[in-house]
Amino acid sequence: MLTQGANVLDGPLAWSLNSWRDRSAAQQPLYHDQPALEQALAYLRQAPALVSRQSISLLTALLAQAQQGRAFVLQGGDCAEGFTQTDQAALNRFVQLLQQMSQLLTRGVQRPVIKIGRLAGQYAKPRSSDIETRDGLSLPVYRGDIVNQAEFRAAARRADPQRLLAAYAHSAATLRDIRTLQGFMDSDGLCDQALFISHEALLLEYEQALTRQQDDGCWFNQSTHLPWIGLRTAQPDGAHVEYLRGVSNPVAVKVGAETSASALLQLIEQLNPHNQPGRLTLIHRMGAALLEQHLGPLIDAVEHAGARVLWLCDPMHGNTRTLPCGTKTRAFDDILAEIETAFVVHARHGSVLGGLHLELTAEAVTECLGGPGQLQPEDLHRCYLSKVDPRLNGEQALALAQHLSRMPPCR
Ligand code: PEP
Ligand code: CO
Repeated sequence: MLTQGANVLDGPLAWSLNSWRDRSAAQQPLYHDQPALEQALAYLRQAPALVSRQSISLLTALLAQAQQGRAFVLQGGDCAEGFTQTDQAALNRFVQLLQQMSQLLTRGVQRPVIKIGRLAGQYAKPRSSDIETRDGLSLPVYRGDIVNQAEFRAAARRADPQRLLAAYAHSAATLRDIRTLQGFMDSDGLCDQALFISHEALLLEYEQALTRQQDDGCWFNQSTHLPWIGLRTAQPDGAHVEYLRGVSNPVAVKVGAETSASALLQLIEQLNPHNQPGRLTLIHRMGAALLEQHLGPLIDAVEHAGARVLWLCDPMHGNTRTLPCGTKTRAFDDILAEIETAFVVHARHGSVLGGLHLELTAEAVTECLGGPGQLQPEDLHRCYLSKVDPRLNGEQALALAQHLSRMPPCR
């Protein structure tokens, strides 16, 4: 199936920067002020690139190593970054946490760790409903700070094109702050301090505006190193897959318990027709209870096709539950169980688990249950700050890495 097809830019399956517009694009906001939208996009199209082509290509090379079992990926950060979080000290704590976790993980998996933040652009959120109703009042749902505000007021929930510009400015400011922390990713190899960035490539207008053609004709999304497609926008014939198949960044896509082997093979064919190592990462997120049953057949299908993919485990999004009081949470033990089962299932099917995708913060939030502080449902209200999904706090994240540092060497 993985034929050496024509360049995606030519031929019957021609790709262009606008070809996604002929497909159905889920999860896009409705802007009422079209001239303001056009103006914002025109600004973004000429704004400086946020990350270099060289650093993007470096990540592809490193992900190829992870795919071959020679490195391990730690991808983590907020579910939804906010525009109010531009505190250099908090960013420092986050980077330190990733650093400490990666030292522990290196011990567990016996491989160097590639660090990727869900950071400097993780502002757009897919939602399960377009409308939210409270006490008889229905308003558009909150879609992340790049679109609107979480506050339940009609004016706050209106999609505001100015927020595209604010997202760009906040990404740039976050990157500037990270770069002042030693190292960053514009180095020549996997130095200890290297940190790459990623976000869900959800808002296609924004992603397109920051996608730039290089002298050799290749297109790069220069807003981030690793743009990924979430589960709600992973239709093989959808607009998100169409957009990402033409950019030369490494790309990732979420895979759920409901993803069929044939849909997965179509995604692989679309996103990595030349079977290029490091190009495609599959992030499975099935839930501790479903992973055992659903992951094996997908691994078998990928192996059978000879597809070179990097597998990451997202143990967060399949383990979300809502408490009777309405609070969304996840249990530390479910998260750990999904990761441990993922290692076992990959090994059993002759594959390698190449990394983790986590929602975490260095702050002492109370969003996930359990962990060293043994957080109970009644503790969660104390410091629940996430506007979307619950994150591991600093202590829980470190404890998770500590558990994984003590894994048997065969993994
Ligand atoms: C996310 O990673 O925040 C997310 C929305 O994930 P998924 O698409 O897997 O639900
Ligand atoms: Co999330």
